Amino acid sequence: MTPADNDSPRDAPEDRRTAPPHVTLKLATSMDGRIATASGESRWITGEAARLEVHRLRASHDAVLVGSGTALADDPELTVRLDPPPARQPARIVLDTRLRLQAASRLFRTADAARLILAHDPSCAPRFAEASAAAEGDVVWWPTPLARGGRGVDLRALLALCAQLGIGSVMVEGGGEVAASFLRAGLVDRIEWFRAPILLGAEGRPAIGDLQVAALADAPGFTRTAECRIGADLWETYMRLNAGA
Ligand SMILES: NC(=O)c1ccc[n+]([C@@H]2O[C@H](COP(=O)([O-])OP(=O)(O)OC[C@H]3O[C@@H](n4cnc5c(N)ncnc54)[C@H](OP(=O)(O)O)[C@@H]3O)[C@@H](O)[C@H]2O)c1
Repeated sequence: MTPADNDSPRDAPEDRRTAPPHVTLKLATSMDGRIATASGESRWITGEAARLEVHRLRASHDAVLVGSGTALADDPELTVRLDPPPARQPARIVLDTRLRLQAASRLFRTADAARLILAHDPSCAPRFAEASAAAEGDVVWWPTPLARGGRGVDLRALLALCAQLGIGSVMVEGGGEVAASFLRAGLVDRIEWFRAPILLGAEGRPAIGDLQVAALADAPGFTRTAECRIGADLWETYMRLNAGA
């Protein structure tokens, strides 16, 4: 079941140290582009078949990434749960500027199965509980330069770190603020969009936060390369218009 080739383009081995990773943005939304109700309920907007494809997409990337808002609100695991399981779990990256994620979270508790990377403000240090919990699993703290004039960590610096460590593909799984940051910076190569036939209205949480688009000509542009029905949902793939330009 696929609207497009699920394999993320990977850089040739000799390029991987320098080329930034390929970035896929995954969206699971209502028809009107909402990812959660006003109260933050988001499980599950899309159906089982779409969620299975998300696990396959995760398995085809070197890392999956969320913002601290999603990590704290949803307490996700972000592992690939397929039968059979993949040979290697993708790393889980959380943009957690102030290191708010706690040792009791599922992400920490599953760090023995899949690497957890916390990208944070270099002036913050891990607390004792989290540092102790890390001893049980594969937890890595990445002091990352902060975005100049923006929010949180600098995404280009983060992707450069990824490249240095051999991460050739990253799937961004939200939430809206992080999706907007990647789009504003022109860093999204591909969008995998699962859309459920429900409406959540303007009070729902938007899939994409503020893009600061002043004119239509400034809007990030994509071309739809594939679409198909998946259960009751629609699955569309988009590629960046000026990719490689
Ligand atoms: N339907 C779905 O599939 C789906 C998927 C994901 C999320 N969601 C929903 O989305 C909601 C959370 O979304 P959200 O927009 O509030 O939060 P978010 O995008 O997950 O996280 C935003 C936070 O990440 C941190 N951050 C660090 N560097 C950043 C950067 N460069 N750009 C942007 N943020 C950066 C910031 O907090 P600090 O600086 O304090 O670290 C920021 O407030 C939840 O309700 C969740 O359920 C739904």
